[in-house]
Amino acid sequence: MNRPDTRDARGRPLHDLRVSVTDRCNFRCVYCMPREKFGADHEFLRRDDLLTFDEITRVVTAAHELGVRKVRLTGGEPLLRPGIADLVAAMKELPALEVAMTTNGSLLAARASELADAGLDRVTVSLDSLDPATFRRMTDSRVSLDDVVTGIDAAVAAGLAPVKVNVVVRADSERGDLVAIARHFRATPVVVRFIEYMDVGSTNAWSRTDVMNGADIVAAIDADSPLEPLPATVVGEVARRYRHRDGSGEIGVITSVSAPFCGDCTRLRLAANGDLFTCLFANSGTGLRELVRSGADHGRLVDALRDVWTFRSDRYSELRAERGARRDDGRVEMSYIGG
Ligand code: GTP
Ligand code: 5AD
Ligand code: SF4
Ligand code: SF4
Repeated sequence: MNRPDTRDARGRPLHDLRVSVTDRCNFRCVYCMPREKFGADHEFLRRDDLLTFDEITRVVTAAHELGVRKVRLTGGEPLLRPGIADLVAAMKELPALEVAMTTNGSLLAARASELADAGLDRVTVSLDSLDPATFRRMTDSRVSLDDVVTGIDAAVAAGLAPVKVNVVVRADSERGDLVAIARHFRATPVVVRFIEYMDVGSTNAWSRTDVMNGADIVAAIDADSPLEPLPATVVGEVARRYRHRDGSGEIGVITSVSAPFCGDCTRLRLAANGDLFTCLFANSGTGLRELVRSGADHGRLVDALRDVWTFRSDRYSELRAERGARRDDGRVEMSYIGG
């Protein structure tokens, strides 16, 4: 089957769908779900607001028809959604569809082999520091760092490869911490990717001065173990890749602030309640849930997705770079839209 070529208003094809399956998380990372804003009285989506697995699968099937060949399950924390392996298995019925997951890793150790058996291709684990005190401060949770590290090991053992580790880096991150993470995963199959702190959502008090540029991150790692750049593996890859010159593996940097990559952005996002977003920084989405629940057939879902994608012209990170500042007219939260 030839891959369909659905292009947006800037000529970018639709290749990836990020699916948030819940807006809940058992962590309260300070840059994502700060506890002051996501406290005990925070109203999360109600259960009947959430798309069911069957409804998600119908949307994914329509997206697949338009060219999507990679789905990434996210949250919040996707492993908080009971039975998530069943959703993976349902999506893996579609031909040539890669299914990956981004998780905080806290619940992964017990679930990795079940997910692999269901057909999950690979997993990315968010882990900002290997220092227990920093980890506790950043995640503001009681989960132990060991659980996450064990989860990463279990993912490797289950063959969810390549296992990646996402490290959010801020200007105040300790360079020693970054070097320690890179060292820890050298000579293992795990690929560490350092992400520039972004102005997603409206609850973190981001400013440009809070960002450590990718170039500085690479310089810090390179000073410990010399690096050389690697070519991108696919168009639209968000990470710039480097390899350790001594052959002990690779790292990546995701420079959405200092070097935006909107020109190649092929990602559509589906929030847990069925809202579709054409950009991580969008302030509104297109509600699909009513259509899905009205009994719309496959053809109508395909038409609805095509309309959304062909109208799309977002390039927020490029505009931020041109303007040198964030836009302040309300953006959806990362925990809702799935990063
Ligand atoms: P791979 O297929 O393994 O490269 O995964 P991925 O990079 O698409 O997924 P992951 O969830 O690991 O994304 C890494 C991080 O890159 C995200 O958490 C975001 O911080 C950032 N990112 C991903 N997609 C976008 C995007 O479209 N725009 C921006 N600005 N950042 C993105
Ligand atoms: N800036 C950069 N990355 C972030 N993430 C969450 N919030 C931010 C932010 N403000 C990361 C998470 C996870 C991925 C989905 O996005 O750590 O790895
Ligand atoms: Fe942290 Fe991810 Fe949960 Fe946000 S969704 S609080 S980044 S673990
Ligand atoms: Fe895509 Fe928006 Fe991110 Fe640019 S800022 S890469 S358009 S999601």
